[in-house]
Amino acid sequence: MLRRLHKEQPASFAFTPKNLEWAKGQISKYPEGRQASAIIPLLFRAQEQEGWLTKPAIEYVADMLGMAYIRALEVATFYFMFQLQPVGTVAHIQICGTTSCMICGAEDLIAVCKELIAPTPHTLSADGKFSWEEVECLGACANAPMAQIGKDYYEDLSPAKLREMIAKFSAGEVPTPGSQIGRYSSEPAKGLTALQEFESGRTQYNASVQRAVDIGDTVKRIDGTEVPILTPWRQDAAVADAAPEAAEVAVGSKPAALAAPRDGKADDLQALEGVGPKLEQLCHELGIFHFDQIAAWGPAEVAWMDSNLKGFKGRVSRDKWVNQAKIIVEQGMEEFQRRAKTNDY
Ligand code: FES
Repeated sequence: MLRRLHKEQPASFAFTPKNLEWAKGQISKYPEGRQASAIIPLLFRAQEQEGWLTKPAIEYVADMLGMAYIRALEVATFYFMFQLQPVGTVAHIQICGTTSCMICGAEDLIAVCKELIAPTPHTLSADGKFSWEEVECLGACANAPMAQIGKDYYEDLSPAKLREMIAKFSAGEVPTPGSQIGRYSSEPAKGLTALQEFESGRTQYNASVQRAVDIGDTVKRIDGTEVPILTPWRQDAAVADAAPEAAEVAVGSKPAALAAPRDGKADDLQALEGVGPKLEQLCHELGIFHFDQIAAWGPAEVAWMDSNLKGFKGRVSRDKWVNQAKIIVEQGMEEFQRRAKTNDY
């Protein structure tokens, strides 16, 4: 496929202040004289900021890295992850069309894209929200057929599922990435046949999807407004990364807090479905350390938590924390884990 710069280009490009700060952090990872190594993350960030990779953006990044324009253009035109023409404002759907995905139904997914988005790849839908293309193997062959949207993988797709996802994107929602048939990873589709003891205690999704869900990540995490842009290896990162603390939202009642966990030992709040390390940390910061604290919450406390867990709004009610905690407190962890396998709480 010919990969050329789009015929219509904007006049200029500049990183937003936050992205510029992030870019400087990326460049600082590399030894003096090797700054060009940062080209792929910087081009990708430029693409995320604009939606697609423009000629001014490629030249801007080349200037930042002290590279000849032709070197940056070589990179941008080589990798198909760089979109050289405008893409849908909500989602650009990359359907894997390589062998495993093809024999598992990729052509049917492409048919859905043709019908719902545009008859040809790299063409905007009538409302400008979507575009699609067929790409080579994305390395998730065991969960074929699959598609990449933004930075997320959607696996075990079917035409009906893809239709449903496009409808959700269209309505402003972000479908949860990962397997769309409830597979945890790449285990047999009908459940584990070996190492079955590892069935218990797992999170709702596999580690990477759970992490994304926990930090409220979405396909549109472009300029750091949805998740903080972190450059922890930098001396001055604390200043650059410090996001202004939002004030508490005055809804419901703030749950009773403990100054510290009882007997110096907090419960493993990550045992709750939907709670990961970040949410557990937020709970600790709010003085919530034990299942019995959560089990005692009424609607007012749930409303407060739903509104004040920064980046995780609505999680407490959505994931039924109180029900989950009550089962743990009243019936024990073993019974909870048994019921959690089928979301029976
Ligand atoms: S063949 Fe589709 S991900 Fe590998």
